[in-house]
Amino acid sequence: MAVDTVHVPLEVYRFQPGTDPAPSFRRYELDLAPHTPVLSALLRIRAETDPTLSLRYSCRSAICGSCAMRINAKSRLACETPVGPEIERHGRIVVEPMANQPVVRDLVVDQSPFWRDYRSIEPHLKLDPYHPMPEGKPNPMTPAEVARFHDTPRCISCAACYSACPAVAADPAFPGPMALAKLYRFVVDPRDAAHQDRLVRIQTEGLWLCLRCHLCTEACPKDVRPSERIRDLKEMAIAAQGATERGSRHAVAFAENLRGAGLLNETKLVRQTFGVLGTLPQLPHGIKIWRKKPEVAHRPRPIEGREELEQIYRALGPEGGR
Ligand code: FES
Repeated sequence: MAVDTVHVPLEVYRFQPGTDPAPSFRRYELDLAPHTPVLSALLRIRAETDPTLSLRYSCRSAICGSCAMRINAKSRLACETPVGPEIERHGRIVVEPMANQPVVRDLVVDQSPFWRDYRSIEPHLKLDPYHPMPEGKPNPMTPAEVARFHDTPRCISCAACYSACPAVAADPAFPGPMALAKLYRFVVDPRDAAHQDRLVRIQTEGLWLCLRCHLCTEACPKDVRPSERIRDLKEMAIAAQGATERGSRHAVAFAENLRGAGLLNETKLVRQTFGVLGTLPQLPHGIKIWRKKPEVAHRPRPIEGREELEQIYRALGPEGGR
């Protein structure tokens, strides 16, 4: 039986730094079965039309993580993205290299920043030398303790989350979603002697730079849900240390502040986040905002339906809203 095909216009990012004056897109047209993965389409282009196209892949089975790229603006694995739904939704397929990492050539990026940030969290067990594991029991964890890892061990280090993350793009101090999801895995590991130190350290090493946009969770092909593990780390950090860092102070103040009237009291929030002295450098900026919008200096009046908000906070428990 003949398989139906769809017409697939592909626009593929091409760039050879040092040779090409600027990146460009080259258009290719193929007729393919709808279930054909984008990776197979690119390999066919390379085999039949353009042998100069550079890309990275290995397993072709969503295992190795090598083929991550941006397909119609979403970071994902090319080997498990079929062309049919993309054409249905967008009418064409635009393929670009992953973001937040410099392009080596075409769809191949230099992953050094990704691996540097991963190494920064020291992703290995630090066993307590004074309490070695009992002999013959290399893994003394209970099933309940293993369950606390959630799905973090499923990560294949494809860097799709890193590519999708606006906090990585905005601030090099943010180690990225994968690194933090892996850090979480060691923080909840009862065998790790450094889990408390890790938690304290990460508070000043980027944890609070996460924007909570959840794009990493949307991009992850293995459902690791990095943004949820980052949220867990934040809650654990506050439980262990209290709101002692600017980021944690902001999170706690934001939740409390909103709970008051159902609207943010911006002036108070800045003071609670930065402290009285820390607020002084913010004053010129604050005055600029106040000139355009004087009402920001007023205490907000409670909104209608604030009781419903209170119910939500109560249902969320002590960590509600952070
Ligand atoms: S080629 Fe291995 S994950 Fe796609």
